[in-house]
Amino acid sequence: MALLPKLLRTKQIDHLQHEAKQETGFVKALGPWQLIFLGIGAIIGTGIFVLTGTTAAQHTGPALVLSFTISGIGCLFAGLCYAEYAAMIPTAGSAYTYAYATLGEFFAWIIGWDLILEYLFASATVAVGWSGYAVKFLHNFGLNVPPALCSSPLVFHQGQWSQSGALFNLPAVLVCLAVTALLVIGIRESTNFNNAIVIIKLSVIVLFILCGSAYINTHNWVPFIPENTGHFGEYGWSGILAGAGVIFFAYIGFDAVSTAAQESRNPQRDMPKGILGSLLICTVLYILVSLVLTGIVPFRELAVPAPVALAIDRTGEGLRWLGPLVQLGAIAGLSSVILVMMMGQPRIFFSMAKDGLLPKGFAKLHPKFGTPHITTVITGVMAALMAGVLPIGVLGELVSIGTLLAFTIVCLSILVLRKTRPGIDRPFRCPGLPWVPLAGAFVCLAQMFALPLDTWLRLVVWLALGLAIYFFYGIRHSRLNPVKLKP
Ligand code: ALA
Repeated sequence: MALLPKLLRTKQIDHLQHEAKQETGFVKALGPWQLIFLGIGAIIGTGIFVLTGTTAAQHTGPALVLSFTISGIGCLFAGLCYAEYAAMIPTAGSAYTYAYATLGEFFAWIIGWDLILEYLFASATVAVGWSGYAVKFLHNFGLNVPPALCSSPLVFHQGQWSQSGALFNLPAVLVCLAVTALLVIGIRESTNFNNAIVIIKLSVIVLFILCGSAYINTHNWVPFIPENTGHFGEYGWSGILAGAGVIFFAYIGFDAVSTAAQESRNPQRDMPKGILGSLLICTVLYILVSLVLTGIVPFRELAVPAPVALAIDRTGEGLRWLGPLVQLGAIAGLSSVILVMMMGQPRIFFSMAKDGLLPKGFAKLHPKFGTPHITTVITGVMAALMAGVLPIGVLGELVSIGTLLAFTIVCLSILVLRKTRPGIDRPFRCPGLPWVPLAGAFVCLAQMFALPLDTWLRLVVWLALGLAIYFFYGIRHSRLNPVKLKP
């Protein structure tokens, strides 16, 4: 077979739909609410508990709420495309499989490889954030983790790597390994744990909004859009756009719901509910939190790692009781992000291995637990290693660029499939074609271009590594290769 047709060969949708219905070994345990909770579990984390403060202080001022709205609308467009796919092809491979069915094997490989940046790197990033909160929480009880054991040995500053003197980030490693163990034991156990921590983090956020709104000083909202300083991205409308690019991280995760499609009881009906429901709930909460936050604290003072805690301090005695609860909510919130991201990654590896693009051993399910245990352990160990040694900033920007690339490809491929297979059964249809997918792709691309050159270079290196693996291994072992008959 010539090279180009090989790269562009697609998997038949009818075949994928048939495969998804077959007995796969996955335990079908998830209903609509568990899926919505999985989404909320993956979405609310570092973005709201950490990034809101610096974004308001450096880019947006009180107009942070507009950045959240713009980024949320972009994600909603991408979410509608994901919902169409996830209901039509409910398989664990998510965007990787969607691309395999529409754009061909080469694009599927690129997106699968790119999704590693999202799920695996996000688990590691959030584990580093979790470690920061956990160390502070333990400190309240007189338990002090030595500094050499709770930060990265490497520092990246102004384009230069240097050593920090620390050994490694022990709490970040431990949380990755603990989550891995839970994920191997079972999807039901993992989602029960997720449901419990999502309830804790939602309660804390709702309490903050309800109680905090009594302390809003509307003078802090004036001027609502501070004047631009003359530099792109420092306040004014360009600041709102730059803020949207940074705050995009807060929305990452709704797509992870689609990797649980084979564990959903009725994916055709429930996948769109899980993806869009969790996204809408989080968007409303983010908008309200950003209004309360900038209403309590003058925006220039918000450049701190724990802005929600700062806002509570500023209420004086009023909300002091909420302080420890916010810390607990943040620890819980970040744990569930790690959990759902580390649940998504092995399922993508699993699908790639089933298609022959990764070694067959990756496509095994545990005979008793029904989980992809081999890929879960590989993911967990890789996340633990990265979380132990890499700084959070470098990891976080790679997550955003990887996710934005995946969203762009998903939005565009919806248009391709509507043209090539107009008649296929679509239990959920993305409305407003072609404008909604086009707008989704446009907003994602615009946010990619707002990211620094360094991050782009790392993306290119990562993709080059992926292509090397594909041409040495995947293309030769693909299950779409013609079967060689023995003479
Ligand atoms: N959206 C997730 C977070 O903010 C990745 O932590």
